[in-house]
Amino acid sequence: MKLLEIFPDARINQLQQILSDKSAWLSQDKKGFLRYRANLQQVAHLRASSCDFSTDTVRIGTATDLTVREQQTVHQALRNLMPWRKGPFSVFGIEIDAEWRSERKWRRIIPELPDLSGKVIADIGCNNGYYMFRAAFHRPAYILGFEPYVHHYYTFHTLNTFACQEILDVELLGIEHLPLFPESFDVIFCLGILYHRPSPIGALRDLFTALKPGGTLFIESQAIPGGEPVALFPKRTYAKVPGTWFVPTAGCLDNWLTRTGFNSVRLFHDHAMSSDEQRRTSWMTFESYEDFIDKNNPALTVEGYPAPRRVFFKAVK
Ligand SMILES: C[S@@+](CC[C@H](N)C(=O)[O-])C[C@H]1O[C@@H](n2cnc3c(N)ncnc32)[C@H](O)[C@@H]1O
Repeated sequence: MKLLEIFPDARINQLQQILSDKSAWLSQDKKGFLRYRANLQQVAHLRASSCDFSTDTVRIGTATDLTVREQQTVHQALRNLMPWRKGPFSVFGIEIDAEWRSERKWRRIIPELPDLSGKVIADIGCNNGYYMFRAAFHRPAYILGFEPYVHHYYTFHTLNTFACQEILDVELLGIEHLPLFPESFDVIFCLGILYHRPSPIGALRDLFTALKPGGTLFIESQAIPGGEPVALFPKRTYAKVPGTWFVPTAGCLDNWLTRTGFNSVRLFHDHAMSSDEQRRTSWMTFESYEDFIDKNNPALTVEGYPAPRRVFFKAVK
């Protein structure tokens, strides 16, 4: 197992047990998991002639790599993986316009990236791996995506079956598994996760533990506007999203990072959310940002809370 070769200091026995339990869990069809595997098997023999991760759209293969029949099969397999939350992708010439314009988030991060070549990286809550493919352009040694959701896990593995990027891997792990990887990563991306954690300080401590000394954390979060170091704790949902716990101001997150022990904590980007960046598309047909915001007052969520901003921090261990 490549993962266990890359991380000699990982708590190997525990990790092996967790991964083998996950694998057994995945092989049951209690929640319809087997349909994802069957979907992947339909297209698992197809390979991209080339990939391009250097531009906004992650390009895997071209239309001329496939016969018309194969292209139809891939199109159906990709449609079966809807809703597509993160993108854009072009897969054998099939353009996938995802709900989130993830290229915008990545463009904000690019100027802040350290040299990623030869580095060991984690992407926490990596979803379908969009940012992992973009980071692969910079020639890291290895990127491990932590993603506990089976749908996203299979979406990544379907894409990477075509793309054959051996330096990329996704396991059915969550941020809570980071303590199994002490001082293991040169760079960690933790984008869009922290407000989903009931214990944000615990999560930041786990991120700190998993970074090598001198390693870099990129953390991006929903935030409320304001200059006070406070966090909103919604009664039930925030912008209709259940499982949202603490939504900090930028100053509050700065304090959380500093008091966790991070150095050189720096806010490098802060912007208001908009329905340009998160919207319904033909590949994600459910409700999206415009449905989460008060129609009469875009400064408020439907619950009457301040509408979300997004803040980006860089910090060093
Ligand atoms: C709001 S999305 C953010 C996705 C991506 N990082 C981004 O910024 O666009 C949250 C992601 O975290 C994943 N997730 C859910 N529980 C998690 C956990 N315990 N640890 C890590 N990721 C988790 C979700 O499945 C989803 O892909």
